[in-house]
Amino acid sequence: MNKKFYITTPIYYPSANFHIGHCYSTIIADSIARYKRLDGYDTYFLTGSDEHGQKIAKKAEEAGKTPQEYVDEIVENAKDLWKSLGITYDRFIRTTDADHVEIVQKIFEKLYDQGDIYKGEYKGLYCTPCESFWTETQAKDGLCPDCGREVHEVSEEAYFLKLSKYQKRLEDHIESHPHFIRPESRKNEMLNNFIRPGLEDLCVSRTSFDWGIPVTFDKDHVVYVWIDALSNYITALGYGTDNDENFRKYWPADVHIVGKEIVRFHTIIWPIILMALDLPLPDQVFGHGWLIIEGNKISKSLGNYRDPREYIEKYSVDAVRYFSLREIPFGNDGNFSEEALVARINADLANTWGNLVNRTIGMANKYFEGTIRNRKNGEAIDELFIESLKTLKNKTDEKIDDLQISKVLEEIFDVLRSSNKYIDDTTPWVLAKDESKKERLETVLYNLLESIRITNILLKPFMPESTEKVDTYLKTERTSFEDAIYIDDLIYEVTDSPEPLFERIQKEEN
Ligand code: MSP
Repeated sequence: MNKKFYITTPIYYPSANFHIGHCYSTIIADSIARYKRLDGYDTYFLTGSDEHGQKIAKKAEEAGKTPQEYVDEIVENAKDLWKSLGITYDRFIRTTDADHVEIVQKIFEKLYDQGDIYKGEYKGLYCTPCESFWTETQAKDGLCPDCGREVHEVSEEAYFLKLSKYQKRLEDHIESHPHFIRPESRKNEMLNNFIRPGLEDLCVSRTSFDWGIPVTFDKDHVVYVWIDALSNYITALGYGTDNDENFRKYWPADVHIVGKEIVRFHTIIWPIILMALDLPLPDQVFGHGWLIIEGNKISKSLGNYRDPREYIEKYSVDAVRYFSLREIPFGNDGNFSEEALVARINADLANTWGNLVNRTIGMANKYFEGTIRNRKNGEAIDELFIESLKTLKNKTDEKIDDLQISKVLEEIFDVLRSSNKYIDDTTPWVLAKDESKKERLETVLYNLLESIRITNILLKPFMPESTEKVDTYLKTERTSFEDAIYIDDLIYEVTDSPEPLFERIQKEEN
């Protein structure tokens, strides 16, 4: 049986249409899912929307709609965005889905019945735009540490989840599973700043609004955000229902991809809910950095962004995917700007990859009418080059397992760059002038086509559209992940009319 792989994105708040920051998490998760799928894993990729809460109810009211109407429209828009980005999710879960609602209610009841949830009174500081509660120390000067806006004091009857009871178990788990929280810096932050100083029990119900999942045994209360939201990772798989085949197959998750601001919820509250339910914990929670625009996090509440579809239409879906995957190293923040996007397209996609593909195919047509065999007329310079093709898949596998997506692309683009250098070093145009060098010339072109074929296979998860194009140029059938090895006896009959893979983008005149 195939090995399984279960990956998730956060479920996003449909309080406004999704922006390039949401695309960032989703493109990363999609690319890893595609990689694993192509690599033979039985893969399940989950994304969705987190639809309840006061903030959304307020937004809907402002728009003169019911909350359900309001989120329906945004979710439709989001699904369309995911389609234009080539996102291959297996399920788009909505926290308003009937199966999710039912199981969240059961989870809440179970935790209450076993004494992990109890009734008390909530007093605290609340940031409405962020839907976050803060302690006095966190909300310095009465300001929300996330968005900098004013928090206000609230007090109401509420149910609480006993985080404190599980603190020691959680600490032990994190310490004995060094990969549970990635990157390492976030692990230390969680342990030192949140867990070791002591966990306060968590408010898990509210009475001050009703746009939420009702608590079955206490009608004034709705389930407050995190039990509702986090449970999506198991309700989506049918946990707790008669139809739990997916749950039995895919749980625990291999990786939850989340932004750095919600690592805390995924590595403290979520594992504790799972421990209370007596379920295994996810293998990894990966907290990535933010895309920043002019010094600020791109955010719905700041409104500092454009519809991602504008960039897709202008520069192609693969350019947007590539930029998102390549620009920001593992876990760091990075700048998003149109200028940086264009610089990436020109340097990597047009000058490196596109140039290699179009130059090589051009030469195959010019010198051999498109048909290339391996004449095995090798020279010393070929050895290192062929070696780098043979070892590429191992390197990308390793980096994917380590979730270092930008490094995966770096490895592949290193090979593309050295392929261009191989052309400069072997000077095919000089070989072409000498009839006795014909076999050498054909061997060189063969090696280049192998490089294009192998890199193209490994680029498929990241840039599905352009790699499909390259497949039609090469016209080979050896395009599966298993074929990402150097093969020495193919016969290439390449297209005689390749369009440029990527055009260089000229600077716009102001
Ligand atoms: N609904 C919660 C998550 C619940 S998960 C069980 C939530 N939603 S959100 O709409 O605010 O989305 C947050 C996620 O979107 C971040 O964790 C991150 O993955 C992504 N991003 C939002 N803005 C981003 C950037 N500017 N840059 C990168 N990712 C960003 O929190």
